Amino acid sequence: MIFDEFTIKSLIRPVADFPKPGVVFRDITPLFQSPRALRMMIDSFIQRYVESDFTHIGALDARGFLLGPILAYELNKPLILFRKKGKLPSDLLEETYQTEYGDAVIEVQADSLCEGDSILLVDDLIATGGTLLAAVNLVKRMGASVYETAAIVDLPELGGSHRLQDIGIPTFTLTAFS
Ligand code: PRP
Ligand code: ADE
Repeated sequence: MIFDEFTIKSLIRPVADFPKPGVVFRDITPLFQSPRALRMMIDSFIQRYVESDFTHIGALDARGFLLGPILAYELNKPLILFRKKGKLPSDLLEETYQTEYGDAVIEVQADSLCEGDSILLVDDLIATGGTLLAAVNLVKRMGASVYETAAIVDLPELGGSHRLQDIGIPTFTLTAFS
């Protein structure tokens, strides 16, 4: 299916003052209610990554979980879950971070990746980049590297994609809102 950014953009709903005053929340739920848009998004990511040589896909809790498993299935890669604190069992590594509207902690199982592994990190949206930067730190602490970070939406004015690029992490997004 041919990628049509206008369709993707039109199915992301702006919600003023959610979850806090001053935030324009970019609601992706309409995208997932459209089978055509979902297929278009997934096809675009698959097309980009089908020949890539990363070893793992990492999905960010929670909205990254909407994309990560589909990409892991289609690309036949192991899926690593980066979860909000308190959800994963076993030996964990954790990072504290800030997002556009709050503080959080993410965790990953400490034996998820090894030196030499290369991971594609997937989330729905990049705002300040706090979430993905925390995941990048976790990957590095396991001795592995980040191949790229991928999301549906970039909010460039919040600086996250630049922050990632400044530390040498490529970003790929299907659309952006200024
Ligand atoms: C949202 C979004 C990204 C993150 C982006 O997650 O899904 O993970 O914020 O913001 P950042 O670039 O400033 O870090 P949220 O923490 O709202 O959690 P959710 O996925 O559980 O809704
Ligand atoms: N996560 C961080 N900022 C966001 C925003 N403006 N809309 C949706 N998710 C977000």
